[in-house]
Amino acid sequence: MAVVTDQVTLTVDGQSVTVAKGTLILDAAKKLGIEIPIFCSHPKMEPVAVCRMCLVEVEKMPKLQPACAVYVMDGMVVRTRTEQVQRYQNGVLEFLLANHPLDCPICDKGGECPLQDQTYTYGPGASRYDFPKKHFDKAVPLSDKILLDRERCVLCWRCTRFSAEISGERELALIQRGKDTIIGTFNDQPARSEYQGNWTEICPVGALTSRQYRFISRPWDLDRTATICPGCSMGCNVHADARHNRLGRFQARENLAVDDGWLCDFGRYSFPSFQREGIERPRVRRDGRLEEVSYEEAMAAAAQSLRRAGPATAGWASPAATNEELFLFQRLLREVLATPHLDHGRGRGEAATALEPDDAALPIADLERCDHVLLLGGQAVIDAAPVLHLRLFKSERKGVRVHRVDDARAALEAVPAEAQAVGIVSSLGRKPEVDSLQGKLARKVKGSVRRLLVPDGPNGRGATDLGFGPGRGPGYASLDGKAGRARPDWEAAGVRALYLFEASPLHDFQASGEEREWIQRLETVVLQRPRPSPLDDLAHVILPGRAFVEKAGTVTNMEGRVQRIRPAIDAAVVRDDWKILQGVAQALGADWRYRDPDEVFADLSRAVPAYRADRIGERALWSERA
Ligand code: SF4
Ligand code: SF4
Ligand code: FES
Repeated sequence: MAVVTDQVTLTVDGQSVTVAKGTLILDAAKKLGIEIPIFCSHPKMEPVAVCRMCLVEVEKMPKLQPACAVYVMDGMVVRTRTEQVQRYQNGVLEFLLANHPLDCPICDKGGECPLQDQTYTYGPGASRYDFPKKHFDKAVPLSDKILLDRERCVLCWRCTRFSAEISGERELALIQRGKDTIIGTFNDQPARSEYQGNWTEICPVGALTSRQYRFISRPWDLDRTATICPGCSMGCNVHADARHNRLGRFQARENLAVDDGWLCDFGRYSFPSFQREGIERPRVRRDGRLEEVSYEEAMAAAAQSLRRAGPATAGWASPAATNEELFLFQRLLREVLATPHLDHGRGRGEAATALEPDDAALPIADLERCDHVLLLGGQAVIDAAPVLHLRLFKSERKGVRVHRVDDARAALEAVPAEAQAVGIVSSLGRKPEVDSLQGKLARKVKGSVRRLLVPDGPNGRGATDLGFGPGRGPGYASLDGKAGRARPDWEAAGVRALYLFEASPLHDFQASGEEREWIQRLETVVLQRPRPSPLDDLAHVILPGRAFVEKAGTVTNMEGRVQRIRPAIDAAVVRDDWKILQGVAQALGADWRYRDPDEVFADLSRAVPAYRADRIGERALWSERA
């Protein structure tokens, strides 16, 4: 009896390859290292086979076949470089270029353009057309973020398919028919999607480009750094591209477990907030005026004032600070100044709610493997981590029931008792409701119930894991009755000195009028921050530090994944924040001798064994908690 397997064997250009049934010819060839040129095909979208660039010969099939849309069969014989294939590739490119403006020298895609590259490799050396090309208005604004150049469009439908299949917004469409087909929005209304930057990355030509990146750089002039988006706790992986030490753009850096290769516009276009304008020196207030001093003098002045306040000091850290910085800062506060008052909540009315390891028990990618997902809080949760929407929409397309609900009772009713895997996604502020809902669901349904809470900032999760709050120490260690007070209670707790550590303009210390008045009355305010702040007027010591894109270290995303950030901008003139924290601690008498963030991480992982240097890039292992 013949053995039935899920594998098929075929040959591509004379080489044999075995792949799973349901594989496209394009992917089987890729497995052999054979490149077939494409325009419309995209690995995350359904095949449409509209550009015809990938045509190949398949034995026993009378016509050439699109490799991006034909699935392999056992015994198939595919040829990708025959004379006929090459003639067709040449012809497809000649047609695509018939109306293409060939304005590569002024096109932002130039140098990283598949049309340019494939014309060189597979196209004709010259055009036989001498009639006038079709013209459209150049650089039509589709929104405040994107420009559309219809002359360059090759009608590959990638952008429209993204809009339909990836974000589900259906904002872009093919308008008119045949040779008059164009890309546009309904009634030419400005695009409102929060994911428009992705259109520019998937467009295989310079038809859709980012306004922010217009004429900024050629790709070969960019210095590329693999780092993490500073926008939120999703922790999307990005390439930060800089030219002459100025950021030019963020591009997606696919991490299937986190971002699935996409970014939201909030994060993607946040980079101008991080441009450093000018060089700053530390300052100390003397006789009411801020005077420039050296780092050593400023750190000594900070230490002197903080020593006076001692346990009456409170420390606030941005949820965008790195794990290494947060670990050192909490040591400085708890061990050196003996104060228990730590917080990273961003508004005075908002103490940082205490997360628990279980709040990250549902990995982002596992949303696709649930049968029911409850989005408790609906759009507000998405607004806090926009790329979550793309993962949820993908999950829905795979058959997951996603319930967008605003109250826990509706959530409980939405899930049937026979559910096998239930996920609850919500914001940190709704933790008490989520905890109670999870308990009720666990009693109601047959399967598992896990939760994923979205904290504030790219490292709100790390801040809690490392004990940067009043109630728990690093690794959720008990404080043995020595818990401190949260930010809203600092005035009542008799706090006299404040050490504020900002790390990102997107996640800084936002003081209400009332809180400013209180800060104004304090005897000491030390402000460590990457750029001028509205709090400068109130500070007694200002210690310029580095912004998120200027430093090395690790941050932890909402699902507990510890990821490296790297400096995309050289800010050598400004001292590293971990060094400043160490300098202040040393000035207070601490014998700290860390030489780099890796040494801090090594120490940190002794205090928090769930964080391990050999697992950076993975989720923290809380089951191994000591
Ligand atoms: S604008 Fe770009 S992505 Fe959209 S159809 Fe045209 S070429 Fe394709
Ligand atoms: S979802 Fe968050 S981390 Fe991802 S790109 Fe947007 S702001 Fe950045
Ligand atoms: S890539 Fe196959 S038809 Fe476009």
